Amino acid sequence: MKALVFGGPGQRSWDTADDPGIQDPTDVIVKVDTTTICGTDLHILKGDVPAVTEGRILGHEAVGTVVETGAAVTGLKQGDKVLVPAITSCGRCGPCKAGMAAHCEAVGGIGWIFGHLIDGVQAEFARVPYAETSVHHVPEGVSDEQVLFLADILPTGFEIGVLNGRVKPGDSVVVVGAGPVGLAAMMTAQIAGAGKIIAVDLAKSRLKHALDFGATHTVEGDADEQIFALAPGGVDVAIEAVGVPETFDLCTRVVRAGGTVANIGVHGAPTTLHLEELWIKNVTITTGLVSGNTVPTLLALARDGRIEAEKLGTHHFNFDQVLEAYDVFAAAAEHDALKVVIQA
Ligand SMILES: NC(=O)c1ccc[n+]([C@@H]2O[C@H](COP(=O)([O-])OP(=O)(O)OC[C@H]3O[C@@H](n4cnc5c(N)ncnc54)[C@H](O)[C@@H]3O)[C@@H](O)[C@H]2O)c1
Ligand SMILES: [Zn+2]
Ligand SMILES: [Zn+2]
Repeated sequence: MKALVFGGPGQRSWDTADDPGIQDPTDVIVKVDTTTICGTDLHILKGDVPAVTEGRILGHEAVGTVVETGAAVTGLKQGDKVLVPAITSCGRCGPCKAGMAAHCEAVGGIGWIFGHLIDGVQAEFARVPYAETSVHHVPEGVSDEQVLFLADILPTGFEIGVLNGRVKPGDSVVVVGAGPVGLAAMMTAQIAGAGKIIAVDLAKSRLKHALDFGATHTVEGDADEQIFALAPGGVDVAIEAVGVPETFDLCTRVVRAGGTVANIGVHGAPTTLHLEELWIKNVTITTGLVSGNTVPTLLALARDGRIEAEKLGTHHFNFDQVLEAYDVFAAAAEHDALKVVIQA
């Protein structure tokens, strides 16, 4: 088969690789129909994720068709259309039973294994471990593109932003960072009933998209003043979706007393936590890695036309154009790209 193979920092190729086979009775083999690229894949290519070794097939988001099932698999059969999510869940360990597959112990203490600890899904075929407790049937009548981004971005925005942030009907919410993850948080904050949704970004093009994903207001530049003008006393929930000290800091300044700061961003540098300001504010600060518990809910919302996640797919490619897709996604600002859709 052909697959996107990591060859060490800065090296990627659309190469011939061995077809995957069943290794454990709980595996299935999926023919990948549609996949995409995540910001994390770009981090891997920069050499930021040393656990990813040379020769690894990348990718952790896919819609595919089951072509082979292991002996212990009874709930999936050949021909089933499935969403393969970023997070694998054994369904049996402590963290999985507690609803935190992000930290599944059966697969190395972290649920994100595709394109990380095992071969991923930017390939014609992929082995999916613990398939029955990890994949989801795609509802009848729903296209690949409508559910593709439910593999990672949508549940991340929903679980780590909106649900950790405890967004309630009527809440004022600020989302700092209007990239795919921030946009997913806006889209699902709307579902949770948020009143004002204030999008903050440095890029005008991203703020323009934000209005199409549920933002009621956009803010660039001197954010504090504009946010306080829109939400006197501060916002109920501040969602951080960038991953740098400035934006986390901004969230802690604009949250109201008693409100919640929900951090989604992956931080590579330490951030000063201003407890000298915060200790008296009764604020809650949450962090998290997506577990994917909300994927069934999101699939129902997609099926019923209540979320249009496909709007995140701005650029389309075939498998043999995957290197071009990487180039476009890596220069997202230049191409006004959000997510790429790569189809067999
Ligand atoms: N916690 C999780 O489980 C999880 C999962 C996936 C991604 N993430 C993280 O979420 C973050 C967002 O992901 P993404 O794919 O949307 O990233 P992205 O890079 O596409 O988007 C980030 C956005 O932030 C904006 N930005 C940058 N600096 C800013 C600043 N100082 N003020 C305001 N806006 C600023 C950029 O213009 C861009 O639009 C990343 O840190 C990513 O690693 C976390
Ligand atoms: Zn991802
Ligand atoms: Zn587990």
